[in-house]
Amino acid sequence: MLNKVVIGNQKMNLTASQTRRFINAFVPLVEHANCEIGICVPYTNLATCKRALKETKIMFGAQNVSEFERGAYTGEISSAMLADIGCKMSLVGHSERRKIFSEQNSQINNKIKQNLKYNITSILCIGESKRERTAGTTKNVICKQLDECLSGLYENELEKIIIAYEPVWAIGTGQTATAKQIEEAVKIIREEISRLYTEIAGKNIVVLYGGSVKADNVKMFAGIKSLNGFLVGGVSLEAQSFSDLIHNFIGKSK
Ligand code: PGA
Repeated sequence: MLNKVVIGNQKMNLTASQTRRFINAFVPLVEHANCEIGICVPYTNLATCKRALKETKIMFGAQNVSEFERGAYTGEISSAMLADIGCKMSLVGHSERRKIFSEQNSQINNKIKQNLKYNITSILCIGESKRERTAGTTKNVICKQLDECLSGLYENELEKIIIAYEPVWAIGTGQTATAKQIEEAVKIIREEISRLYTEIAGKNIVVLYGGSVKADNVKMFAGIKSLNGFLVGGVSLEAQSFSDLIHNFIGKSK
């Protein structure tokens, strides 16, 4: 059986004090859950997470990282800075970064390489737009994103990569992909990793689904055997709802 993983992407919503309150409410609800749990927060909330999550198994991470090592890049945060405060993971290539901030696969590839240097796990977000799905190019889009974002990486480095399949049309829209669509996408991802590396690599890579996942619809996806878990946006902002989602996924009573 695959490791179960659920990661929250809290986006630009909570202040550091609000994150502390969220953690205080959230930890008791999930501390015995048989699942790896993480939250990705704004940079300014990372130190709060480090303190508040110290005695727990819950991981915390950033939502982005610079593609550069150091220097005159005003407003950027490097992998070294993240590592120095104990941050061990970061999202890269979220569709909002691609769409609103025009991030390209080549930049995302640099970010992953920076993270690797500092032992930070990259949660690589990929997925097609509505137009691409309608045009029947989903497979091409996913494979191109994987090929370009993982370019130059060695197989052993995939231990520090999590793939989040997030179809753009399902993010924050209330419209999830169907279990069949998710299963097909996960198959494409595992096959492409197998093609680029080895079959073992394709089997072992951690794959999540993200896009309007909620406590009530997560049960529909919990049966997808090839899927490790979920990347959760909106619902991860509220302790009880996020905990309900996790418990519904792992099928344990609260
Ligand atoms: P959502 O966001 O759960 O609010 O759709 C998911 C994400 O953006 O990672």
